[in-house]
Amino acid sequence: MMNIFLFVLCLVINNDIHIVHGIQNTLQEDLELERQLQLINKPHIKSIRTKFGDIIDCIDINKQPAFDHPLLKNHKLQRKPNFKTSSVKNSWARLIFGLEKHQYCPTGTVPIQTITKDDLIRDKLLNSHTSTQSTPGDHFAEVSLVPGLGPYYGVSGSLSIYNPKVEKDQSSASVLWVRNEDANRIVLGWHVNPSLYGDDATHIYSRWTRDNYEKTGCFNMQCPGFVQTNKRIYLGTRVDITSIYGGRTIETNVSITQDPITKNWWLNIENTNIGYFPIALFSNMASAQQGGWGGKTHAPPGAPSPPMGSGYFPDKSFIHACYFRDVSFKNGSTQNYGPEEYHVNTETDKPSCFGVKYYGNQGRQLGYSLQFGGPGGNYFFFQLNYVRSFFYPSLFHVSNFPKAINYHMKVI
Ligand SMILES: *[C@@H]1O[C@H](CO)[C@@H](O)[C@H](O)[C@H]1NC(C)=O
Ligand SMILES: *[C@@H]1O[C@H](CO)[C@@H](O)[C@H](O)[C@H]1NC(C)=O
Repeated sequence: MMNIFLFVLCLVINNDIHIVHGIQNTLQEDLELERQLQLINKPHIKSIRTKFGDIIDCIDINKQPAFDHPLLKNHKLQRKPNFKTSSVKNSWARLIFGLEKHQYCPTGTVPIQTITKDDLIRDKLLNSHTSTQSTPGDHFAEVSLVPGLGPYYGVSGSLSIYNPKVEKDQSSASVLWVRNEDANRIVLGWHVNPSLYGDDATHIYSRWTRDNYEKTGCFNMQCPGFVQTNKRIYLGTRVDITSIYGGRTIETNVSITQDPITKNWWLNIENTNIGYFPIALFSNMASAQQGGWGGKTHAPPGAPSPPMGSGYFPDKSFIHACYFRDVSFKNGSTQNYGPEEYHVNTETDKPSCFGVKYYGNQGRQLGYSLQFGGPGGNYFFFQLNYVRSFFYPSLFHVSNFPKAINYHMKVI
């Protein structure tokens, strides 16, 4: 009974507003897309087909798409950040994302995923119902640094990676971020986003904006902005192996750190600096008022929310709910601090569907840790499927249930 109640609650809230989204693709728009593609996709020195069939172009580092941005006309390429980064390299990373060893881009070039017309159309659709925190259908569960104790110059942590079941038009992300005056944001982590990639795999991604996604910013390299410097790991890369609830755990180190001299914001994945967002892209990112760690989900209004993280609520078992461990922040130019409890707020806008817990310092192995996630609007089905899976293993996926059942349940 309780389960049904929770499920209905999630649906009702998402159902507040009905908007019909439609994009008509006229001939003129088609030409415009072709023009954009020619601008975005640069001549390549080498082209690589990954084992997943994605096409990656190796492009002259000085001629990459970022430099088309009007605000980066006089930008001077920064090849390395002016801060120390851990030199620990995890060999797992090679196996689970980025280019394989024999495929690295030649020196002086960087890997950039080719953008297709389908990508642009999908991106346009995505941006037309984009996520601000007031959008119905968008939910979050997060631990964020108290703004009054800033400013901040970086956040980091090790994030477990899952592959939650996400329907077409939904997305589910696990990320860290920095933001300033709400309008300027940088996000880094993994997500499942079928409308962006056309698949239900887990991808490493980043997103930025200077006006709260009104007119600027995008995912990955879908618009000029991010300057790629690494030859191996690129934004949008698919993750090969993910964690299994109660079983193996796959995690990666992620951080967003401001360069103390150039003030550019660097992204680091698996102890590798992959590139940066130039400070000139933003209206005000000399420092960040806020930073944090957690999950975000998106669903069209009226549809249930997808699962977040591993799909399970925090229970302090690090093989159950998705986690960030060893989290730290920078409030000066050198040292990293683990946030004490008074330094953070934990918040979810939908406690019946998603949870978040901050545990503080959990000792040497885990460090400052947190968990987040939950089943979303499929709570009832998760329970039902869990029981059914013992009898009918093939029925385990939520997507095997016809949509009609979803809506019928709501009426009850
Ligand atoms: C993650 O990064 C921290 C410092 O940046 C480092 O001490 C730690 O060894 C890294 N963990 C892994 C698994 O590479
Ligand atoms: C940074 O945060 C630490 C831990 O809360 C605190 O001890 C230190 O004074 C702060 N430094 C600055 C420059 O605010």
